[in-house]
Amino acid sequence: GGPDTRTPTGEKTGAPPAANGQQGAYLTTAQGARLRDTDHSLKAGPRGPTLLQDHHLREKITHFDHERIPERVVHARGAGAHGVFTGYGTADTLTRAGFLRKGKETDVFVRFSTVLGSRGSADTVRDTRGFATKFYTEEGTFDLVGNNMPVFFIQDGIKFPDIIHAGKPHPDREIPQAQSAHDTFWDFVSLHTEAQHHVMWNMSDRGIARSFRMMEGFGIHTFRLVNDAGETVLAKFHWKPKLGVHSLVWEEAQLLSGMDPDFHRRDLYDAIESGAYPEWELCVQVFPDTPDETFAGIDLLDPTKIVPEELAPVQAVGKMVLNQTPRDFFAEVEQVAFHPGHLPPGIDVTNDPLLQARLFSYLDTQITRLAGPNFAQIPINRPHAPVNDMLRDGFHQQAVHAGVAPYRPNSLDGGNPFVAGDAEHAFSDTPVTVAEAPKIRANPASFDDHFSQARLFWASMSPVEQEHIVRAYTFELGKCYEQAIKERQLQALANIDPVLCAQVAAGLGLPAPQPAAPVAAVTPSPALSQVGRVWPPD
Ligand code: HEM
Repeated sequence: GGPDTRTPTGEKTGAPPAANGQQGAYLTTAQGARLRDTDHSLKAGPRGPTLLQDHHLREKITHFDHERIPERVVHARGAGAHGVFTGYGTADTLTRAGFLRKGKETDVFVRFSTVLGSRGSADTVRDTRGFATKFYTEEGTFDLVGNNMPVFFIQDGIKFPDIIHAGKPHPDREIPQAQSAHDTFWDFVSLHTEAQHHVMWNMSDRGIARSFRMMEGFGIHTFRLVNDAGETVLAKFHWKPKLGVHSLVWEEAQLLSGMDPDFHRRDLYDAIESGAYPEWELCVQVFPDTPDETFAGIDLLDPTKIVPEELAPVQAVGKMVLNQTPRDFFAEVEQVAFHPGHLPPGIDVTNDPLLQARLFSYLDTQITRLAGPNFAQIPINRPHAPVNDMLRDGFHQQAVHAGVAPYRPNSLDGGNPFVAGDAEHAFSDTPVTVAEAPKIRANPASFDDHFSQARLFWASMSPVEQEHIVRAYTFELGKCYEQAIKERQLQALANIDPVLCAQVAAGLGLPAPQPAAPVAAVTPSPALSQVGRVWPPD
């Protein structure tokens, strides 16, 4: 109990308070002792040697030696900005989440990223883009940790190390996969055909975004929303950019990788500094919370599937404006730590097996990346809601806690009682029924269709978008050394669409295989095409 020193400073912008180490007019040591000279080490006479007793030299060099922290294991390359989210009140019947109430303003911080490249890699490579938003809500922080594509490569998080190992640089050559030698990536996705739908998005123009400001964002997983009455619906989150969705063409992307590897980072920073604040609407697709968790025959727990917008319209529930660039890239963009389990009351998880693994992974990796369990005390990660937890001590503890030992029940600590049962404002633990079934390492049969939605995507593209997709497959597969991998991927393309397969095969100078099963027709979803895509729709 007792006062918690991690409560917010009250600063409106969400920017961290002025850092220690930049106060006063004089240059000092880290202990505040004034310095006379920081350019010369202390030596025994003008020609040395340098003396071990030079505390300033050792402090300055030691701190420098430890300036770098590990980069993120994925999404290492990113850029970020602060902003404000305003609720529309249109989700009031769906969720009790207070930040969605009409006119409610909430500070946000967004980090955009590529997935595979290292921290210093180029912005305009062909890749998925991360779109992670931290809403500092009064009811606790909500992290919407999404991507610019609505589907994922794998259906179960246990395979995440495999897909990432297949996509990251070769162990011997350390050559990045995102743009060059590709055998491991295409080996994995051709063997593991549930990846084919996401790969098609990567091979489309969506894989080479024009600007972070012109990307959609997707929460991908289905979440469960809980309203004031305790009623639930299933929902998917979408971000719709006010500027529309735009891409580079491949030649532009390649030139920019060489001429301006910071293209997206610069674009975001320059736009905000010049007052052209990027805007998105947060939208939801809503589905009834039925026991089978399906909608229109689509398993809502399968993160390789979308629900076409024609079947479930996206409904705007609020607006985000990014209006402030970071003051200190390291303190904000590097140290920010997102977690899909950071949820406010009214938003709950589902049993999507990809999401379930993520709920473990982010906290675990951040304990290493941010050196210990207290990174929620780093300014960018501090909740703007009052924090009164029983977590104590640990590496880099910043708080000076008061009161008796933190345990409950506690008859000694009358000053700060735990208010039990305040369901309205508490974390949502929806009492979903758990099936009584044997433990099993397998997917449900409803996850087995790996091709029909890739076909839907292909069939929904305009002719020029289809041409770009064919060229991208041809270029990328052309980088593979192993013929067997190219042939296996052509088989996957045949199962998706024989015309697509024939065009890529021709480009590679290989025969086009026959589909493994008759290819069923799909009804195109115009909303998937980027051509003429504006938001809101007419
Ligand atoms: C980082 C999105 C699946 C593990 C990230 C980031 C994003 C993201 C946007 C960067 C966050 C930032 O900017 O700091 C997604 C999406 C997924 C997905 C949309 C699927 C729907 C997974 C899975 C795992 C995983 C299945 C592991 C089981 C990680 C890890 C990081 C990360 C370890 C680094 C976090 C850090 O260092 O702070 N992910 N991811 N992700 N993701 Fe995922």
